[in-house]
Amino acid sequence: MNEVVQDAFNEQIKSELFSGYLYLSMSAHFDHENMPGFAHWMRLQAQEELAHAMRLFDYVLRRGGQVELHGIDAPTTDFGSPLTLFESVLEHERAVTGMIHRLFELSGKEGDWAAQQELQWFIAEQVEEEDAAATVRDQVRMAGDDQAALLMLDQQLGSRTAGPEQA
Ligand code: FEO
Repeated sequence: MNEVVQDAFNEQIKSELFSGYLYLSMSAHFDHENMPGFAHWMRLQAQEELAHAMRLFDYVLRRGGQVELHGIDAPTTDFGSPLTLFESVLEHERAVTGMIHRLFELSGKEGDWAAQQELQWFIAEQVEEEDAAATVRDQVRMAGDDQAALLMLDQQLGSRTAGPEQA
């Protein structure tokens, strides 16, 4: 693994950990707002992000590269309404998709075909990530100001189980 690709992977490890930090902050926010189902969904989302970071971490090590952990910014604690929050989750996931695509492009430019193969998993995963965020965003939008609908959605999100990559 050359240094350019290695540095870019290390930067992506940081971005995945930041995503986890952001979703943990959102989980705490929902817990504070007495929405335990939303809090649970976000906590699992944060765990998924840690799993993404660890997958990259292990990959760099497997390639004989050097993992260098970069500083993680503090996430916001100011989220607004559930709809605003989920709009920002979707926006965030789209930005991550862009990062993964750029990493894939860079790996190709550097002739690192093995890295590109590893990144195929992340490209597919980002389709799932965007879809999951868009689904909840749409459900929150449909619930609108209806407290009973939001309560039902909270119960539904509370039943989310961990994805296969954490099994
Ligand atoms: Fe690691 Fe939510 O993308």
